[in-house]
Amino acid sequence: MRKLHAGVIGLGFIGPQHIDGIRRVPGADVLAVCGREEDNPAAVAERFDVPRAYRDWREMIADPDIDVVHNCTPNALHDEINRAAILAGKHVYCEKPLSDSAAQARDIWRLAVARGVAHGLNHQYRLNAPVQEMRARLQNGLAGRPLFVWGRYLQESAARASDWSHRMENTGIARTINDIGIHWTDTACCVLGHPIVSVMAELTTHHPVRTDAQGGTHAVDTEDTAMILVRFADGTPGSLIASKAANGHKNDLRVAVACETYGMEWSQEDPDRLTVGLKETGFETVYMNPRTCQPETRAYITTPMGHVMGWPDALRNALARYYASIAEDTYRAPIQPYATFEDGFRGMAFVEACVRSAKTRAWTEVEQP
Ligand SMILES: NC(=O)c1ccc[n+]([C@@H]2O[C@H](COP(=O)([O-])OP(=O)(O)OC[C@H]3O[C@@H](n4cnc5c(N)ncnc54)[C@H](O)[C@@H]3O)[C@@H](O)[C@H]2O)c1
Repeated sequence: MRKLHAGVIGLGFIGPQHIDGIRRVPGADVLAVCGREEDNPAAVAERFDVPRAYRDWREMIADPDIDVVHNCTPNALHDEINRAAILAGKHVYCEKPLSDSAAQARDIWRLAVARGVAHGLNHQYRLNAPVQEMRARLQNGLAGRPLFVWGRYLQESAARASDWSHRMENTGIARTINDIGIHWTDTACCVLGHPIVSVMAELTTHHPVRTDAQGGTHAVDTEDTAMILVRFADGTPGSLIASKAANGHKNDLRVAVACETYGMEWSQEDPDRLTVGLKETGFETVYMNPRTCQPETRAYITTPMGHVMGWPDALRNALARYYASIAEDTYRAPIQPYATFEDGFRGMAFVEACVRSAKTRAWTEVEQP
């Protein structure tokens, strides 16, 4: 069987990460890249040894040899490109957030299902082995009843008033929760095995006016920091602090679940190990070992203990599951190990509920599918 051919649109930060990730998946290869003129797609294609380069994503989607479209463009382009790719019969693997609104996300999800294409969303953090281990230990009853979930996603790109970037524009109705908060919710929901059904959110914009390097000023009304109480569908409560204004924190995603028997904590910057909190002896560090982990985790452990699996490995794991579901023709099953457009809808519904909650200062239901 010939390899599945990917075309990657968007050649900024994340596009090249997809190129690397796809190449680590057996049965997949990158046939084309597409970017704007300033990306110089031909030069990128040469650098990565990719056969075809496009400057117009419509042309790339029309290429009959492309099987899978990777949408690595800015958020505002996700809907249009996803829709066109699905209508052209391509499988789509899209960057988060899926869409601009829950309603549009639902439409795109339904369209992908109706057209019978594989729809993956790049919430790669859930594909880290320790995240899967937390999930398996909960499901297998080892950790006991979950009491509450907590965590944070902290970055530092917006701490100072002089921190200005074009990424602060056109972010949709929210910024920090849209960009990183939904990574936390996807990971936490994966661990717990339940979606979030209600939220109480406090959203703060620390610098309503920002200055750029040339001294120009920019009004910003989306949140730098979000403090959110959540309730999961099984009744478990949780809390999240998501911020772009936490100096010193690079990519500090942390998901923890306090359970009746012991607690479990995972930190993205210590990606290949789990911290287990025991009343009797304190905290223990658990390396991911295929011989001692839960059976469900084994497939996600790709190196021996101490040979740190990290960010690119989680992306590879996500892409490996996604491409396998196409090759094995199992992608129509409603539940996949990777995030799908359904999860994309849930992410947008969460963002909208947070914005509503912050405005009304009240607990707010999250729209369900
Ligand atoms: N999953 C993750 O961990 C993760 C991390 C970073 C970014 N992202 C997501 O990836 C997406 C892109 O983010 P980024 O950081 O790579 O942004 P970026 O600005 O670095 O790159 C965007 C790229 O898209 C290209 N582009 C813009 N308009 C285009 C068009 N009409 N046709 C073709 N290409 C076009 C730009 O030229 C650029 O190369 C965003 O949706 C972001 O949320 C996800």
